[in-house]
Amino acid sequence: MTPTLILRNCTLDHARLDIAIEGDTIIAIAPHLEMTAPTEIDISGQLVSPPFVESHIHLDSALTVGQPRHNQSGTLFEGIEIWRDRKQTLTTDDVKHRAIAALKLMASQGTLFVRSHVDVSEPNLTALEGLLEVRDLVKGWITLQIVAFPQDGIYSNPKNGSPKNDELIEEAIILGADAVGGIPHYELTREDGVRSVHRIFELAEKYNRLIDIHCDEIDDDQSRFLEVVSACALQTGLQEKVTASHTTAFGSYNDAYALKLMGFLKRSGINFIANPLINITLQGRTDTYPKRRGLTRVKELWQAGLNVSLGHDCIQDPWYGLGTGNMLDVISMAVHLCQMTGLEEMDACYDMATTHGARTLNLQDSYGIAVGKPANLIVLDSSDKYDAIRRRPTVSHVISRGQVLVETASPQVKWQRDVD
Ligand code: FE2
Repeated sequence: MTPTLILRNCTLDHARLDIAIEGDTIIAIAPHLEMTAPTEIDISGQLVSPPFVESHIHLDSALTVGQPRHNQSGTLFEGIEIWRDRKQTLTTDDVKHRAIAALKLMASQGTLFVRSHVDVSEPNLTALEGLLEVRDLVKGWITLQIVAFPQDGIYSNPKNGSPKNDELIEEAIILGADAVGGIPHYELTREDGVRSVHRIFELAEKYNRLIDIHCDEIDDDQSRFLEVVSACALQTGLQEKVTASHTTAFGSYNDAYALKLMGFLKRSGINFIANPLINITLQGRTDTYPKRRGLTRVKELWQAGLNVSLGHDCIQDPWYGLGTGNMLDVISMAVHLCQMTGLEEMDACYDMATTHGARTLNLQDSYGIAVGKPANLIVLDSSDKYDAIRRRPTVSHVISRGQVLVETASPQVKWQRDVD
């Protein structure tokens, strides 16, 4: 073995270990490795973690906040209206420039796996074309999955009797999208919503793709497409290839229905994605008081053994004008909103942005820190997961494909006068 990079004195799973990398692969992990490498870095006991996984983001709209106007009501639906105007001026270069800027922002803070939805209800598929190019351009340092997402619905804009968006989503899949998306609660009727879910599964089976549906992202306790997604996952056997994003209505269902549904969900084995930063601001807008939190039942899904992961959803766009691309912000918000403040619960929230996210993205053996795995890992100026959530420290090193991609120094605080 001839390592090209050795990381010494890493804290990994509460042990002090050296990690040797050859090319783009981890070749040894042990205390005090005897081997040497042309590049060696003393990690000084900092926490080494698998990279963050951003399970749900919209890169095509990222960094467009205020264009052409700000979302004054703060609602999902005003966001959709603003985006409908903004996307009239989209160009491939516009999408590529902003997507790469957002990916660099994320990678610099430890995210190396990203699932992005892309709006395919725009006739020229400009955003898709841009993101497909980006996926190829960045593959040497970050993994990008693309979901063909019909933002305006599959059947909600029939044109001369032709279901135009139905054709566009299939074209997007043929062009190379990794997953089929949808938004059943935004279709014109309950029946169209159900029909859209069946169509999504039909396309996924036909083209052998993953599924990630914006599902019940509304406070309406009668929005019940999750049961349809769950049933289809069970009937088709696609199960772990299926993800229900948001499912915020689940937070409003009555407990009798929620209990019955949870049983179905456990049988279906689908994945869930919560986006706590944005859903705490988007949902509950029509409530007076008590005001709902607008989150799915994250803790209960986790307790039931279902796979839950986390995402930003948006970074500085018509739906959410904030966002830094730092997954520790997302984890911290999840801990607070889901009341997962027990030590084991906080560790679970961290896992939702790492290993659970990898499971949602179906990354399988290409993710994790072990001998034989691709050498993707991050170093946090921290002692453990709890400490990382509490202090939201600097990610000091990002190692991608066996090479140092980013180094960031922790801020230094210098008092300029004596104080008691
Ligand atoms: Fe979304």
